[in-house]
Amino acid sequence: MSYQINQVLKPIIEILNNKDVNLYLVGGQVRDSFLNKTNQDFDLMVATDFNMLIDLLEKKLGLEFTYHDKFLTATTKFASFELDIARARTEYYPAPGSLPIVSPASIKEDLKRRDFSVNAMAIQLNGSASGRLLDPFQGRKDISNLKLRSLHATSYLDDPTRILRGIKLILTHNFSFCRKDRQQIKDLLHLLPWKVLSLDRVFNELRKVLNLKTDISQLAELLTSLNVLKLLDPDYRFTKYSKTQFILLEEFLKRLSLNEFQIRPWLLRMAVLLQESKLDLDQLSLKKDEIKLISFTPATKVFTWRDNLSPTINIYNLFKQYSLEEIILLLINRGKFNIIADFNKYLKNYYACQIKIDGADLKRLGISPGPIYQEIFAKLMLEKFKKNVDDNKNAEIKFVKDFFSKKE
Ligand code: CTP
Repeated sequence: MSYQINQVLKPIIEILNNKDVNLYLVGGQVRDSFLNKTNQDFDLMVATDFNMLIDLLEKKLGLEFTYHDKFLTATTKFASFELDIARARTEYYPAPGSLPIVSPASIKEDLKRRDFSVNAMAIQLNGSASGRLLDPFQGRKDISNLKLRSLHATSYLDDPTRILRGIKLILTHNFSFCRKDRQQIKDLLHLLPWKVLSLDRVFNELRKVLNLKTDISQLAELLTSLNVLKLLDPDYRFTKYSKTQFILLEEFLKRLSLNEFQIRPWLLRMAVLLQESKLDLDQLSLKKDEIKLISFTPATKVFTWRDNLSPTINIYNLFKQYSLEEIILLLINRGKFNIIADFNKYLKNYYACQIKIDGADLKRLGISPGPIYQEIFAKLMLEKFKKNVDDNKNAEIKFVKDFFSKKE
């Protein structure tokens, strides 16, 4: 058992001293410990005495659990980690893609219901067999070969979101599907559509993939060979155009200071992937502004880029019509590769040039409110971009006065 796991779980393990209950670590944390990867989630499991264990941890460690009775699990925060304690269970899927119905079972039966062999291992944490690895499906071997192997023939049919969970592991952990699984997934995608499939579950899993912080351009290759977006839209086609746009967006995202600007990478990725799809977005749990961006069709929008003007001025002109995220989609659509590398610089300039005076200042200067206000602000912004007006209120007021004296 790794040093980190031991250190984190020590207080829990000590409480179980001389108690007749065996506690196991399962799932992603076990997998990642063999890959020397850190993981913030600890999934623990007992075969019996679930309620007793939770009571004990609440009393002795002051933890407060949230119960999910239907799934026989309880979750809490433990130090900086997410702690999930489960009663070992089996599950059965009343229909493909529906939520499972669960009932108590042994540790081995619980491991058997899981998605991949690499996630179906358990380490005993206490008692005389502490440190023992339960690995009934040769997960260790699959970890060495970085292979994702499901545990039974209907695993993906029971729960198609597992395909997306696999894709997440491919992108984050360098795994690949074993040949048999690849074929099973392809066959399954041909069977679509099923009416019972929960679009929301698929969508949420897809959102997790698209939310990854790393470069996910590899997803373009995966979507070319495994058309998983069919899970959302049975008519979905990942065209060459979508592929190029997606790769370009990744290039773009890599270069943008994501923390500095309000950009939602998952949404931009979703917008690019769904650009050519007719999926009814109202079926998904999306906010209004998210739907707006996904429905944005850059190809049909007016995009004027004058090569005789600097990129800064061009970007300024675009901002008058579009949001930052829409501009990114437009630039990608129009293949403005040359400015991508310097985009941060132009944006910083744009944001640094926000106008400091407002309508009240114009009124104080004796200008009556009307369309002229907009004209003044637009002219002022442009001059600030060109660095003809300094970035302070006095300079802006002087500009307005000069502007009027020239007009008169
Ligand atoms: N699981 C599954 N099918 C799903 C979701 C989860 O079989 N659709 C199983 C997996 O074996 C997983 C375990 O339930 O190991 C716990 O799920 P979760 O906490 O979501 O995954 P982890 O593997 O713990 O975490 P991650 O892969 O995100 O690090």
